[in-house]
Amino acid sequence: MSDLLFATNNQHKLREIQDILGHDFKILSLRDVGADVEIPETQETIEGNAVQKARFIHEMTGLNCFADDTGLEIESLQGRPGVYSARYAGENCSFDDNIDKILLELSGCENRKACFRTVICLIMDGHEYQFEGRVDGVITKERHGADGFGYDPVFLPDGFKQTFAEMPSYLKNGISHRGRAVDKMVKWQNSKMAK
Ligand code: IMP
Repeated sequence: MSDLLFATNNQHKLREIQDILGHDFKILSLRDVGADVEIPETQETIEGNAVQKARFIHEMTGLNCFADDTGLEIESLQGRPGVYSARYAGENCSFDDNIDKILLELSGCENRKACFRTVICLIMDGHEYQFEGRVDGVITKERHGADGFGYDPVFLPDGFKQTFAEMPSYLKNGISHRGRAVDKMVKWQNSKMAK
C-alpha cells in the first residue's frame, strides 16, 4: 500500500476518496503532514484550480500529492455554476443557498440536463498528470434525500431513480465524477507499477 497526500481541507471528500481507493492507497491529509493551510483556488477553470491546489501543496511539502476540483455544469445555464459551484450564491453561502439559487434559475425550464465534472491533478516524482471524471444527469425540481453534500439532493444521475443524496455511498462512489476520476488515477498508477 502506498501513501498519497490529498491536498484538501474538506473532510467529507477525504473520507469519500479513501472509500473509493480502498486498500490500494492510504490517503494522508494536510493535517497528517502538518500542513493545515488554506489552499488558494482562484483560477477560472476546474482544471486550473486542480493544478493550482496540487502545485501549492507540492511546493510547500515537497511530497507527491494530488488535488481535485469539481463543478456542476448545467446546460440551460450555459455551464454555470461550473467553477463557481462552491460559492454560487455568494461568499460564505451554504449548500442550501446554492441549491435554492439553481432551482430558482431553472424554474419553468424544461431542459434540466447537467453534469458533474472532476479534474484531478497528480504530482508524482516531479511530473504532473490530469485525470477527468464526469457523470451526466438532470436537476430535479425538488430536493430528495439527506445524504451526501453539495448539490446531491437535486442531482439525478442518468439511468437511476435516486438522487445522489438518496443513494448509499458505495453506489454514488461507483458512478460519480470523483469516483471515475479517482479510478482513472488508480488504473494509471497500477499500470505504471506493473511495468
Ligand atoms: P470541490 O471543487 O470538490 O470543492 O467542489 C466544488 C463544489 O461543487 C462543492 O462545494 C459542492 O457544492 C459541489 N460538489 C462537488 N462534488 C460534489 C458531489 O459529489 N455532490 C454534490 N455536490 C458536489
